Amino acid sequence: MEIKKVCVIGAGVMGSGIAQLIAISGYSVNLVDLSEELLKNIKEKIEQNIDRHYVARNKFSKEEASKILNNIHYYTNIEEAVDKVQLVIEAIYEDMNLKQVLFAKLDSICEKHVILASNTSSLSITDIASQCQHQNRIVGIHFFNPATVMKLIELIKGDKTTDETLEIAKNFSKGLKKTVVTINDSPGFVTSRLIYVLCNEAINMKMEGIASTEDIDTACKLAFNFPMGPLELSDLVGLDIYNNIGEYLNKEFGDKYKPSFLLKKMVNKKRLGRKSRKGFYDY
Ligand SMILES: NC(=O)c1ccc[n+]([C@@H]2O[C@H](COP(=O)([O-])OP(=O)(O)OC[C@H]3O[C@@H](n4cnc5c(N)ncnc54)[C@H](O)[C@@H]3O)[C@@H](O)[C@H]2O)c1
Repeated sequence: MEIKKVCVIGAGVMGSGIAQLIAISGYSVNLVDLSEELLKNIKEKIEQNIDRHYVARNKFSKEEASKILNNIHYYTNIEEAVDKVQLVIEAIYEDMNLKQVLFAKLDSICEKHVILASNTSSLSITDIASQCQHQNRIVGIHFFNPATVMKLIELIKGDKTTDETLEIAKNFSKGLKKTVVTINDSPGFVTSRLIYVLCNEAINMKMEGIASTEDIDTACKLAFNFPMGPLELSDLVGLDIYNNIGEYLNKEFGDKYKPSFLLKKMVNKKRLGRKSRKGFYDY
């Protein structure tokens, strides 16, 4: 099956990035969020982003940019947004219950051939799909932030995901010029399980006063050739996201993954990183 039209549900950090990537790659994309007001802000941010990162840097002409922007359509109504699409990518909050409810709804309103994908960064695809009738067409397509820039996609094969679904998702991902790795469903997959441990330990070091924020990040950047330090990266990903990942891994695998006390404290104070303009750094 050829993918021509895609629906992305959740237009936050990831969903709006994924929608831009898909539009830049020449597909038509329907982007869904909860209110017209949210969508108005998101549309403005997407327009500014395309202008700043592509037109101002001569990567696209104004005409090309306007064609890309016209490829993105904004919806609050999911039934309308999934009409005539071949692929739905979910990028709502990292919450198992919310995702299960949404997938059960998508499974009931989308035709059987439509692939349903989650961009979850840690939750089991098998569990997300568990309340659906057609679990064969459900797969994880895990993008990285910013989706337009990062080269990797982790494809997650749930217990009931068929090889055909995986193949369609793989070809689509390669068409977005990404390198694809395939992972058998397991909490945190490969990337989130590893990076969470590193970042959570850096947050514990900060809490213990072992070094300053800047020195922890500089040490990692220069010692390991990382492009970003773990505290800078935590701010970029969102501290709420890491806290959710930690709680989930803790529940699935045990105490080794317990979120740092400082991480929890910052999330409670709504210091979420870049998205709230305050995290380990101010923005
Ligand atoms: N932030 C990252 O770096 C990153 C990277 C990879 C994957 N992820 C995953 O992507 C997903 C989204 O993360 P994010 O950082 O973009 O979150 P976010 O909070 O920035 O965005 C979530 C968006 O979903 C919308 N939403 C919530 N429920 C909805 C519903 N029922 N219908 C339509 N829209 C709804 C919200 O209004 C919000 O705009 C999560 O599962 C997260 O784990 C995040």
